[in-house]
Amino acid sequence: MKVVIAGATGAIGRPLVTALRLSGHQVYALTRGGRGAELARALGATPVHARVLDRDDLLRATETLTADAVIHQLTAYKRSPPTHYRSPGLLRTNALRTVGSRNLVELAENIGATRYLTQSLILGYGIRDHGTEPVTELEPFGRAQGDANDANLAALHEAESQAWQARGMDGIALRYGFFYGPGASDMITRGLKLRLLPLPSTGSGHTGFVHIEDAVSATVAALEHGRPGQSYNIVDDEPITWDTMFDAMAAAIGARRPLRVPPRLLRLSAPLAAAQMLDLSLRASNAKAQAELAWKPSYPTYREGVVTVAKTPS
Ligand SMILES: NC(=O)c1ccc[n+]([C@@H]2O[C@H](COP(=O)([O-])OP(=O)(O)OC[C@H]3O[C@@H](n4cnc5c(N)ncnc54)[C@H](OP(=O)(O)O)[C@@H]3O)[C@@H](O)[C@H]2O)c1
Repeated sequence: MKVVIAGATGAIGRPLVTALRLSGHQVYALTRGGRGAELARALGATPVHARVLDRDDLLRATETLTADAVIHQLTAYKRSPPTHYRSPGLLRTNALRTVGSRNLVELAENIGATRYLTQSLILGYGIRDHGTEPVTELEPFGRAQGDANDANLAALHEAESQAWQARGMDGIALRYGFFYGPGASDMITRGLKLRLLPLPSTGSGHTGFVHIEDAVSATVAALEHGRPGQSYNIVDDEPITWDTMFDAMAAAIGARRPLRVPPRLLRLSAPLAAAQMLDLSLRASNAKAQAELAWKPSYPTYREGVVTVAKTPS
């Protein structure tokens, strides 16, 4: 297939380009230019200079392009991680999920694509206690809860709806868990080394993680044989707490155990990150992805995967 990737230079985009090429696909990487174009070429993709948030620029830049599929993997977290409800990186990411999705769907329609995949997140099920049962794709998604997180939920909902409503397009949403692994958890490992990433002293809730290589293999599988109009939870087999993951990561990189601080302090310094640790308990199930995508995580739990966090991406 000829595949256009928006976000080809990001944490998932880079290994995704490599994996798609290894599977025999031809990749076009949308890039704002500069080092992005260089990186795209080094990965074996053809760079296409365009600004995704600028509809006219995007459509003009891709006028002569034809492709079979478009994949949206845009976020804007690198310089501003989403620790606060109104952190600039989160606001920009929401724009990429709303305006960016609308523009990318139009691009997909214009270039004759018939498949459209979008990045989504299990966090779209809402930051709250979902109980101890597995959360499947049937659970309401992106629904407002009447709190500061609503704009983020709405943006995730819009990214998915855009994928499914696109004319003549097989739209698929990939609800990833939290990425970790080479190139995908560098911000966390840096913070752990400096002991700057505290955990709540009361313990944290469960959530879903996925090794970056498994997020990539699930994406390739979804491109090749995901069912149109579907969402898939892309997580490993075992939901765990942040305490378990951060302690394991710290041990893997030889850092000291993360500090534990009173929840009140965490909520003051990083309200959104604190809510994800303290208020969220979500055991997302990957059963549908395993059954329909013929996909299996090669790192079924953090135990197998966490030793890779110190590696440099291949
Ligand atoms: N499920 C998850 O846990 C999850 C999901 C996504 C990201 N993350 C994490 O967030 C951190 C940062 O992610 P990242 O390394 O992928 O970097 P990022 O800054 O989030 O950028 C991701 C991609 O989006 C592109 N992009 C950003 N803003 C854009 C815009 N306005 N227009 C067009 N393209 C734009 C970037 O292109 P440029 O190269 O031009 O900047 C890059 O290709 C990583 O640690 C990653 O693991 C986690």
